[in-house]
Amino acid sequence: MVGAAALRHPTWPLPNVNGDSASSRLLLGVDYYPDQTPEALWEEDSRMMAEFGFTNVRIAEFAWALMEPSEGKFDFAWLRRALQTLHKYNIAVVLGTPSAAPPPWLTAKYPEIVEVNALGAPLHPGGRRFTCPTNKTYRRLSLAVANEMARAFMDAPGVIGWQIDNELTLSSSPRCYCNYCRAGFQEWLRTKYGSLDNLNRTWGTVFWSQAYTDFSQIPVPLPSGGDPNPGLALDYNRYQSYANTSFLEEQLAVLRKTCPRHFVTTNNVGLPLDLIDLRSLYEKLDFVAFDNYPGFFEMLLHEQTKSGSVSWDYIYTATALGHDFARSLHGKPFMIMEEQSGKAGQRTFSPQPDKGQLRLWTYQAIAHGAMGVNYFRWDTANFGAEEYWHGILNHDRSKSRGYDEIKQTVKEVKALGPEVLNSTYPAETALVFDYDCDWALQLQPGHQGLSYMTQITSWYGSIASSRSGIDVIAPGADLAPYKIVFAPVVFVLSEAQAARIKAFVQNGGMFVSNFRLGVKTESSQMVRTPLPGLLRDVMGVTVEDYVPIYSAKHAVKFSATLAGPDGECGIWADILQPSGAEVLGTYTSGGYAGRAAITMNSFDKGKAVYIGADLDAASLARVLRSLSASAGVKQLLEAPAGVEATVRRSGGKQWIFLLNHTDTVQAVNIPGPSTDLLTGEWLTGTVRLSGYGVRVFEVS
Ligand code: GAL
Repeated sequence: MVGAAALRHPTWPLPNVNGDSASSRLLLGVDYYPDQTPEALWEEDSRMMAEFGFTNVRIAEFAWALMEPSEGKFDFAWLRRALQTLHKYNIAVVLGTPSAAPPPWLTAKYPEIVEVNALGAPLHPGGRRFTCPTNKTYRRLSLAVANEMARAFMDAPGVIGWQIDNELTLSSSPRCYCNYCRAGFQEWLRTKYGSLDNLNRTWGTVFWSQAYTDFSQIPVPLPSGGDPNPGLALDYNRYQSYANTSFLEEQLAVLRKTCPRHFVTTNNVGLPLDLIDLRSLYEKLDFVAFDNYPGFFEMLLHEQTKSGSVSWDYIYTATALGHDFARSLHGKPFMIMEEQSGKAGQRTFSPQPDKGQLRLWTYQAIAHGAMGVNYFRWDTANFGAEEYWHGILNHDRSKSRGYDEIKQTVKEVKALGPEVLNSTYPAETALVFDYDCDWALQLQPGHQGLSYMTQITSWYGSIASSRSGIDVIAPGADLAPYKIVFAPVVFVLSEAQAARIKAFVQNGGMFVSNFRLGVKTESSQMVRTPLPGLLRDVMGVTVEDYVPIYSAKHAVKFSATLAGPDGECGIWADILQPSGAEVLGTYTSGGYAGRAAITMNSFDKGKAVYIGADLDAASLARVLRSLSASAGVKQLLEAPAGVEATVRRSGGKQWIFLLNHTDTVQAVNIPGPSTDLLTGEWLTGTVRLSGYGVRVFEVS
């Protein structure tokens, strides 16, 4: 296996096949399946895609069986012909390595490569993404086909880059629990802990008689007669991230070596879905590429909630969070590798996007930092598990309902040009997102209703109502660039992270957190000091009691600093005993009436705010907005609910994006007169946005 540290790569963009300058390449393309399309149609498809305005396609990511019809026999002739046809129409190509869908000859010969799910049951071939990330045979064969592809297409005209695999771990079972993973986990633990003594102590295996006397005894967290050791369970999530990342990096190493002029990325979906650690997965790649299906998300939420209505506020907020996370992973523009282009679904259809929504979703990605968008997919499959997933052409190859809208959008985005697409996204605010907290809290939420992802999403939505840029950062990230750092439910906190937070506040920053702060060490043990553990001095409070709430109703009264109507306290209340901190909110009912619910501590040059109560959405938004303002975060403009506003910046220029996620006309006061870059209209004073409308304009 190639160690991550051994990988060196040039930065993308690179000079490309058409000789245009590095930063001017646009990636406004479509996901195309020549492998699933009669060859007689390739020419027509390529011509139509060129007329449509697409610059590139992404192809071949599921075509393993065609590229390697039997073990070690490779056939790329069909793919070469497809590339030639595309190139004739000046369509560039992102090639996908096919490891997400191993062919039947492979699984028949090597049945042991399948993943084992969280119940201990093996998955079966017949779908996709049913493989174990640790299994050496699967790795060897995945690498072999990637290597042959790289050699076959390293100089192929039109090829500009690579997507490794497809949505690693996004399946019904995002973790593998097989014996190969178990052995891999044991090896990984040996490296991490050095000795069994250290491991036993760190996990506290004396509990329930789990002391290990040999690494080979260590299990994976499959169902047992009781929950697993929390330290083991947390480490297993980390191991699965490591296994998948190192699987990807093996392919990355051959692509770097053989195709040094091509960019390399992978596609996945980001927050608020729990997968593996995407920070480590993308670390060595040239840029981040995410897939985005807001309408499909709507359908999933319907299924989950069984309710008649799903809030679009929630969907567009979660989508914005995903985009901000994508941009923040590398701190630079990202790409949407798959953008919804019509009704989406496998067994059932998502709703048909309303007229204007497909365009709006494209601009939402760009508004949050995308530099390219690929639509999924060109035509709609007539066979296979995704017959219901609509592309730009219908099953009968007529134009889909989204055809003209996407074509117009591509034309408009091209006109915006590389300067806007490659611009930065300024943020004075950070939201901390931590996989450890998510994973540890999933095992021990403390309350059935407490979910890290839900907290992150509602905090993100509340902060976004401040109309200012937000980066979604790792807990150990550099906090110095921000005026205010929001960090909900920091259930797991390391000493290094606590030290960074302390230094940030000492230097004048504002840190805002809430209940369950600093409860656990990074090995998922409960801290041995009063809560909030390592941050007790910074927060200037002690948590006197922590209270899960079920049917009782509790309320919070705000002090003059946060003035507003009383808030409701939902599922959790940390009861705070200030030691120097100012009280900004008090509980008004129950046995804790009159006790502190929200505090603000002055610590050296900065401030630290503890929100002990699980506030209702409106109160949370008001409180977080008011804290942003007091930290000096500049609000871009005022906009009604349902309208997003973001800024992108390049050199001395900056552009505001206004996005109306409602189907009705909305009005926004803009900071100064300007020209709408999409329509050429002169804008001044109060600007109207049609339902699902978008405005992009430069401001000084
Ligand atoms: C994505 C995936 C594609 C396709 C699409 C529609 O998640 O990457 O391969 O499956 O969804 O289902």
